[in-house]
Amino acid sequence: MQNYDGIKHRPRIVRIGDVKEETPTVKSIAFRDDQCSKGKPGQFVMIWIPGIDEVPMSLSLIGRDGASGVTVRKRGEATSALCAKKTGDQIGVRGPYGTYFTVGKEAKLLLAGGGTGTAALAPLIEMPIMRKKDLTIVTGSRTKTELIYLDRFKALHPLKMMRLVATTDDGSYGIKGLASSVVDILLEKEKFDMIYACGPEPMMKTILDSAQKTSTPVQFSLERIFKCGVGICGSCSLGQYRVCRDGPVFSGDMLKGISEFGKTRRDSAGRIVPI
Ligand SMILES: Cc1cc2nc3c(=O)[nH]c(=O)nc-3n(C[C@H](O)[C@H](O)[C@H](O)COP(=O)(O)OP(=O)(O)OC[C@H]3O[C@@H](n4cnc5c(N)ncnc54)[C@H](O)[C@@H]3O)c2cc1C
Ligand code: FES
Repeated sequence: MQNYDGIKHRPRIVRIGDVKEETPTVKSIAFRDDQCSKGKPGQFVMIWIPGIDEVPMSLSLIGRDGASGVTVRKRGEATSALCAKKTGDQIGVRGPYGTYFTVGKEAKLLLAGGGTGTAALAPLIEMPIMRKKDLTIVTGSRTKTELIYLDRFKALHPLKMMRLVATTDDGSYGIKGLASSVVDILLEKEKFDMIYACGPEPMMKTILDSAQKTSTPVQFSLERIFKCGVGICGSCSLGQYRVCRDGPVFSGDMLKGISEFGKTRRDSAGRIVPI
């Protein structure tokens, strides 16, 4: 009899359902998969694009009805090929893997997403328990046309107390500047019970520094180069951690004192390079 782990580690072939163009470079790709629909916010899947590569993606849709999905930015060969996929095409999926965001009794929450990092936060924001929380969502991108999910988050407004703050590097929408700068300003003025964040590592390092000054606990979902996704190859190393196995969601206590966080990472050849 097949156990859960056997199913989890073997790529399952799924047919692509809806494909939504979020921005000129970002698409959301939906598919149906039982294991993914039981995934937790912050977890990732390994997406196999036949003949090309296998890449990690955060689950950006976790539907209770079996619907699942990822939101992908066109970057190199694999993500370009994934973005070119159409409804009805097939891809492979293994996982979901890794640690996930947890929600406790904390009432006032700050969620910060940079670029497609917002994808990892979306299923967290949509959890039923979040309807009882006081939410501030900061979502940042380079420019207006690259902001994702504004409508998706605005649609949640009637349901809950929610403040949505958009930032763009070039000032074409919302506040001009980085999401991490807005988080810093908010933390100076207000007390939050928990910060959840996902985005470029330098952004999260800045948020970690601000959070430590104000003793605010954090949960961060990190992205490094993943090859195996299951703790074998070491390409995702960060200090004593393998991000795929010990993360991708880390607490501030776990990241405290790791000098390479936000500064260096391994490239696809395994060399340590500046971020
Ligand atoms: C846990 C996790 C979750 C992720 N979730 C998403 C997601 O939801 N949506 C999304 O679009 N992307 C996500 N990514 C990043 C995505 O996996 C990479 O963009 C993808 O693997 C790049 O493959 P490629 O062949 O298109 O580009 P490549 O040709 O492999 O890379 C293009 C360039 O991007 C750099 N790069 C690739 N991966 C990373 C990385 N992880 N960190 C920093 N630089 C990198 C390479 O060094 C190179 O310079 C996630 C990564 C991780 C580890
Ligand atoms: S990706 Fe291989 S150990 Fe993490």
